[in-house]
Amino acid sequence: MEGMAKDKVEETKELEWALIPPREVSQVDGVFLEKNMCNNWDKIWNFQAKPDDLLIASYPKAGTTWTQEIVDLIQNNGDIENSRRAPIHLRHPFLEWVRVVNSGIDEANAMPSPRTLKTHLPIQLLPPSFWEKKCKIIYVARNAKDNMVSYYYFQTMNKGLPDPGSWDEYFETFMSGKVMWGSWFDHVKGWWKKKDSHPILYLFYEEMMKDPKREIRKVMEFLGKNLKEEVLDKIVNNTSFAVMKNNPMTNYINDIEMNHSLSPFMRKGVVGDWKNQFTEDQNKRFNEDYEKHMADTSLSFFEEL
Ligand code: A3P
Repeated sequence: MEGMAKDKVEETKELEWALIPPREVSQVDGVFLEKNMCNNWDKIWNFQAKPDDLLIASYPKAGTTWTQEIVDLIQNNGDIENSRRAPIHLRHPFLEWVRVVNSGIDEANAMPSPRTLKTHLPIQLLPPSFWEKKCKIIYVARNAKDNMVSYYYFQTMNKGLPDPGSWDEYFETFMSGKVMWGSWFDHVKGWWKKKDSHPILYLFYEEMMKDPKREIRKVMEFLGKNLKEEVLDKIVNNTSFAVMKNNPMTNYINDIEMNHSLSPFMRKGVVGDWKNQFTEDQNKRFNEDYEKHMADTSLSFFEEL
């Protein structure tokens, strides 16, 4: 009986999800953004950051949520219960996101300091007050191939983003930068350059996978904290893929725009999954294009561990 009731709930959720209209896309300065964000652009651009704000920035699907949970646990001195006080999107307002009832900007304005905020904006679209107030920023980047695959599956399950079409179609869309928040290349390179003149801790998903404790320690030092080894170990354990996948406060399980039966938010959490998705030809074309786009930067990535 119980099993049947659960099936019914799932079926109803599926039907409700199917009825949600997909969000529309528009542009700000040539960067594709969701239409409501574009309509709300003056409010976003004029957002007033405060000197003690911390901003977590990333290209979508680079490991944002993972970084957010690490930051929250460090700020809480490893207090697991405290970090489960609310879903991650409520703990850290998503600056440019617009909901039916409110927006990330409204949430941020209503939040007491010190605030931790999240954004996917490319460097040139970040509200200038973050630079003026010299806010600390943590940026996380992920190799383009895995990032693309993760973004593709995310777009299949999330009504907050456009339908990606087939993988082959999406491959072209991603390569041309016609995805929400713009080109991966411009994003990671823009933020990389900015770190020379602004307090930005630039993290890599692959390094976090390789040695989470080392990377968590970097975050801790950047935040000016000093936690005991055992607390760091606790944070490593509680921010593992397996734990976060089962944590309703980090896995977006109750987000009505996401259909986790199509592809879970906590999908695979590995480095090198692109090998299961790219055809040989796509890989060849990608590598050629990548060389050109990355010729003018010292930034480099691991595509496998
Ligand atoms: P995959 O789709 O490759 O599994 P974001 O938070 O920026 O949307 O990024 C989501 C991606 O990060 C997903 O990648 C997700 O599985 C992965 N991820 C989330 N938490 C993780 C963790 N604790 N360890 C490793 N990967 C994680």
